[in-house]
Amino acid sequence: MDVIGLILVSWVVLMNGVKSEEGSCDFPAIFNFGDSNSDTGCMAAAFYPMASPCGNTFFHEPAGRASDGRLIIDFIAQKLGFPLLSPYIDSIGSSYGHGANFAAGSSTIRRQNRTFFDGGTPFTLEIQTAQFHQFKARTAKFFNQSGNNHPCRKQFPRPEDFPKAIYTMDIGQNDIAAAINRVGKEDSHAVISDIVHQFATQVQYLYKEGARTFWIHNTGPIGCLPVTIHNTHNPEPGYVDQNGCVNYQNDMAKEFNEKLNNTLVTLRSQLPDASLIYVDLFSAKYYLISNAKKEGFVDPAKLCCGYHENGIDIWCGNKGTVNGTEIFAGSCEDPSSYISWDGVHYTEAANHWIADRIINGSFSDPPIAITHSCHKPDSL
Ligand SMILES: *[C@@H]1O[C@H](CO)[C@@H](O)[C@H](O)[C@H]1NC(C)=O
Ligand SMILES: *[C@@H]1O[C@H](CO)[C@@H](O)[C@H](O)[C@H]1NC(C)=O
Ligand SMILES: *[C@@H]1O[C@H](CO)[C@@H](O)[C@H](O)[C@H]1NC(C)=O
Ligand SMILES: *[C@@H]1O[C@H](CO)[C@@H](O)[C@H](O)[C@H]1NC(C)=O
Ligand SMILES: *[C@@H]1O[C@H](CO)[C@@H](O)[C@H](O)[C@H]1NC(C)=O
Repeated sequence: MDVIGLILVSWVVLMNGVKSEEGSCDFPAIFNFGDSNSDTGCMAAAFYPMASPCGNTFFHEPAGRASDGRLIIDFIAQKLGFPLLSPYIDSIGSSYGHGANFAAGSSTIRRQNRTFFDGGTPFTLEIQTAQFHQFKARTAKFFNQSGNNHPCRKQFPRPEDFPKAIYTMDIGQNDIAAAINRVGKEDSHAVISDIVHQFATQVQYLYKEGARTFWIHNTGPIGCLPVTIHNTHNPEPGYVDQNGCVNYQNDMAKEFNEKLNNTLVTLRSQLPDASLIYVDLFSAKYYLISNAKKEGFVDPAKLCCGYHENGIDIWCGNKGTVNGTEIFAGSCEDPSSYISWDGVHYTEAANHWIADRIINGSFSDPPIAITHSCHKPDSL
């Protein structure tokens, strides 16, 4: 064998060893849809930036994320070998060569009657998929009109990348939160069914747009959020579980998840070319909360940044008055030992822990790792 041959062989071996584990999917891009759990800067670009100390752990400055560092979607992007995803509407420093992020904090599947100033967002799931449609159509037009040598070609996915991309979704928590606020005033079971129905409509829409691989997170244990736990005083027996989580709230999340799971079973038969992976994020998060100490974290009801006691809420990075004294809600000393960053969102350390467990498929149904999620089980 000549030298060139030898170099070629070693290169092939190296690339196989490093890049493509057996049968792994060659995703050219990620398109993500969701709420603050995967917003990498949409709301910060559209309205106001995140307040310091958000972002301190990894970015050393606010980076549009409701966390001290990376989110689960960031760990997914890194696992797939991509740069961190740019928000679709962020006009400064963005790059879309490997996809775009349409997720927006406060986002819901169903339209809500709230504006940004009431804690809402205009970017519902339906708007996010409309933005995706526009992104795809306009990049296709750009590629058609700008010759092969246009300097911006690497800034955008090529038309042929869209059907081969992975479509990740993590949304529903704010719909459940809204349903919790109206519990007793409406039929929660019917509402949850409608939320899931509207979610399915958007999956069908993306499929029609050419999406084929879907990685879908269910919703987490909302009743375990420290802001909820801190505002629960002297609960009656059965109101909370052994972790202090509010049972009826987690039950609503579980009902959403069960209906979501069932809907995906139906969608798999309706969308024959789709690979739809259901990721049981609830169980991953709940396991972490239940085993916090064993996994090296402090009491899961504690939060790293923010003050939520005696009916006073001072959100992370804000100032407020407690007992006549002004306090600033800054970061705890060691965010890496906390699960909750700000009482609602998870720390980078917790996101990392969760991402490590879901990425390899141990919480997926069918049980497939994200690197292999383009394959339907019968074609494995
Ligand atoms: C929003 O308000 C309209 C009119 O008051 C009502 O019919 C609708 O059910 C509300 N939607 C939600 C999600 O609360
Ligand atoms: C590309 O542009 C040409 C000429 O402007 C047009 O005829 C054609 O339909 C376009 N193709 C696509 C896929 O947009
Ligand atoms: C989802 O539904 C499938 C099929 O009905 C079932 O086998 C599986 O256990 C469900 N997954 C979860 C996490 O509930
Ligand atoms: C405020 O006063 C209450 C009641 O006296 C006390 O329990 C609490 O620790 C005080 N909070 C702060 C931040 O000083
Ligand atoms: C996935 O990774 C976690 C954490 O490293 C490990 O505990 C688990 O056994 C792995 N599961 C699979 C299916 O490889």
